[in-house]
Amino acid sequence: MSSDDIDVDDFDNADHDLEKFESTDDNLEKFEKIFAKKRKVLDDGFDSNKVENQVLDKSTMFTLYEMINAKVISYVNGIVKAGKESVLFWAVGPDGQDIALKVYLVSTVSFKKRAAYIVGDPRFTRLKHGTRNMVYLWAKKEYRNLRQCARHNIPVPKPIYVSNNVLALEFIGKNGIPASTLHETEIEESDYTQAIEIMTKLYRNARLVHGDFSEYNVFKTGSGLLLFDLGSAVDTTHPNAQNFLERDIKNMTYFFAKRGLTVKNPKDILTEITS
Ligand SMILES: Nc1ncnc2c1ncn2[C@@H]1O[C@H](COP(=O)(O)OP(=O)(O)OP(=O)(O)O)[C@@H](O)[C@H]1O
Ligand SMILES: [Mg+2]
Repeated sequence: MSSDDIDVDDFDNADHDLEKFESTDDNLEKFEKIFAKKRKVLDDGFDSNKVENQVLDKSTMFTLYEMINAKVISYVNGIVKAGKESVLFWAVGPDGQDIALKVYLVSTVSFKKRAAYIVGDPRFTRLKHGTRNMVYLWAKKEYRNLRQCARHNIPVPKPIYVSNNVLALEFIGKNGIPASTLHETEIEESDYTQAIEIMTKLYRNARLVHGDFSEYNVFKTGSGLLLFDLGSAVDTTHPNAQNFLERDIKNMTYFFAKRGLTVKNPKDILTEITS
């Protein structure tokens, strides 16, 4: 086992922390430090403070507070997007740089759905049961996948830090507004070429299969496409890796065909990537 391997036993104290963290005056003061612009109403009229209070449990607030102490972030500006299983926050780092915080929600996670993307991956062998542990592991998995990609020059948001259910990444976009995804933009021939190139490098160099490669999980920026949402990515030796790859290729092909491009046969792309 290399030092890179995740020992899920590290998470033994998670629930203990939650119990320890009571809403004393001292703790409330800590929470207030997190949201520096507490009453800020976002451009779309969203009162972020209200949502923050609804989505963040105390344990997550504590994790954010610790990230401030560790100088990963200075403060959180507010919510960018709230999904079913994760919420994306716009935070600011000590040097004023924008940081994306992906907060995985412990309460809504679908344990069974996630297990299929973990069990069988040789990188994650010592699994502990429990929803909270699974969520923490998922966040670590996304962090590791991103690091593996960055190491092989695959365009992804730079991973910065992970702690419990909070993942800090380079913010892709401007002023708290994320860059457009492929789904939200006009498409050119070169997008298709790039998408296949990214998928190929992911498989051959990083030895990963995304597992949820779609127009919703690819940013289109001025400097090209950027792949994100890598929590589902598995090692190429995972028992379902080939099925996931086939599905990823089919989804992408279908999307580009729908947008009017001439596309290759998915089977041929699969052969090209894996041979
Ligand atoms: N690094 C980032 N910088 C800026 N915005 C981001 C970043 N990562 C994600 N986002 C924004 O948050 C949204 C959700 O992120 P992501 O796809 O990683 O999470 P998810 O849990 O899969 O959510 P969904 O179910 O909506 O796909 C993205 O569509 C994007 O707009
Ligand atoms: Mg997504």
